[in-house]
Amino acid sequence: MIDQPVPGLDEVLRRQRMIRAPYADRPVPRDLVRQILLDSRRAPSAGHSQGASFLVLEGDQTREFFELTHPNREDPESLQPCPVVVLPLEHPQAYLDRYSAPDKVQFGMGTDVGAWPVPYWTVDTAMAAMVVLLSATAHGLGGWFFAIFEGEAEVLRRAGVPEGMRPIGAIALGWPRDGAPTPGSRYPRRSDEDVIRWGQW
Ligand SMILES: Cc1cc2nc3c(=O)[nH]c(=O)nc-3n(C[C@H](O)[C@H](O)[C@H](O)COP(=O)(O)O)c2cc1C
Repeated sequence: MIDQPVPGLDEVLRRQRMIRAPYADRPVPRDLVRQILLDSRRAPSAGHSQGASFLVLEGDQTREFFELTHPNREDPESLQPCPVVVLPLEHPQAYLDRYSAPDKVQFGMGTDVGAWPVPYWTVDTAMAAMVVLLSATAHGLGGWFFAIFEGEAEVLRRAGVPEGMRPIGAIALGWPRDGAPTPGSRYPRRSDEDVIRWGQW
């Protein structure tokens, strides 16, 4: 499956959209999940800090995750089957450490997260998460990025995630169900002119 050719970028971008759980009742091989997550190492990161990590929940762990977090206020059972939920974890301390190194210390960002113009740990983890979504799409999987509004602390505690790392959201992965497209957004995409301003607003 991993050896199958993947489509080009145009095709991947055309297909890219949220495919929400439930998915087909078919396992996602670990090797494929691993490949998709390792693809995220192509994402940029500030100072090459590489602060993004992933916690992978599989099988019954995803059921437990949904019971704790209730995404979209849905009945957790209505989201099954969901073979995989990945938590993209940001780690601010990795950035303080990196920016304490001799080649970065002059920027004065190595001790205080408040000194950063934007939270690059969040930026970088989001960039890595986008690569995960694109790679999932390229490999024929459905991917769904969603927010965690409740239960986060308990999810992290049960999985033994170290203090100081937290998810920027969650990514569900699974094979799309045949003939069951999940609803897209009610809002149209913004116009070209609205998205891009050349030189002047
Ligand atoms: C930061 C972020 C948070 C999101 N939170 C949720 C969410 O909680 N529940 C959900 O169903 N989708 C969530 N989404 C998915 C968006 O609703 C979706 O990307 C958007 O409507 C555009 O649809 P498309 O990606 O299918 O083109 C989130 C996306 C992002 C980037």
